[in-house]
Amino acid sequence: MPTFKVFRYDPDKNDPPYFQDYEVPDHKGMTVLEALYYILENLDPTLAFRSSCRMGVCGSCAMHIDGQYGLACETQVAALGNKITIRPLAHMTVIRDMVVDLDPFFAQYEAIKPYLIPKNAPGPREYAQTPRERKKLDILVDCILCASCYGSCPVVGTDEKYLGPHALLKALRFIDDSRDGQTNERLAFVANDSGIFRCHTIFNCQQVCPKDLDPTGAIGKLKMKSLWAKLTGKLKSSG
Ligand code: FES
Repeated sequence: MPTFKVFRYDPDKNDPPYFQDYEVPDHKGMTVLEALYYILENLDPTLAFRSSCRMGVCGSCAMHIDGQYGLACETQVAALGNKITIRPLAHMTVIRDMVVDLDPFFAQYEAIKPYLIPKNAPGPREYAQTPRERKKLDILVDCILCASCYGSCPVVGTDEKYLGPHALLKALRFIDDSRDGQTNERLAFVANDSGIFRCHTIFNCQQVCPKDLDPTGAIGKLKMKSLWAKLTGKLKSSG
């Protein structure tokens, strides 16, 4: 029976954070999220954590699980040891237990304008793409905004202005979109010391992404694109 050593914090009680142990009877195929629900429903109704879909789609159950960031609903208890440490995501204020304030994460995301800004005014038909143009976006569109990459990134932890791996990955998603008309504006926005040039290429974000996305690679591509745009005179400002 594994023991879950779970981070606890309730600012209303004015106590410092601490870890609490819970013994959870496991079964074949049990996920960490199921274990947390077992604790909530059988051992301690005060435990706070987020979840929704329970199938790796909504991104709400990301946390620090036994030394690695990831989704609780996709992490098998059997793959961990007998003592499993659970903490909240880093770099964000803890509201309670595993629930963190995601406002800074979403503020950085919104800053890169994560929506299509078309080249042309809407016509009578949809904005068409060839299969090849769409294929280019395949690896970029699957982000579920779980914030695992954000929590794992040491640069996020030292520079609150840094846009973060999630926002920069999304910036490339629109820069690479054949229908988008803001390529140079988007590049100018990210090509500065709070954007792509703040990344230290540490690869944590790539390692923890539950969807196997590559924010580090995306940032590398953005660096190449911005340098090329500067060399060809298309990028006037580095932000
Ligand atoms: S509960 Fe939706 S991703 Fe885990």
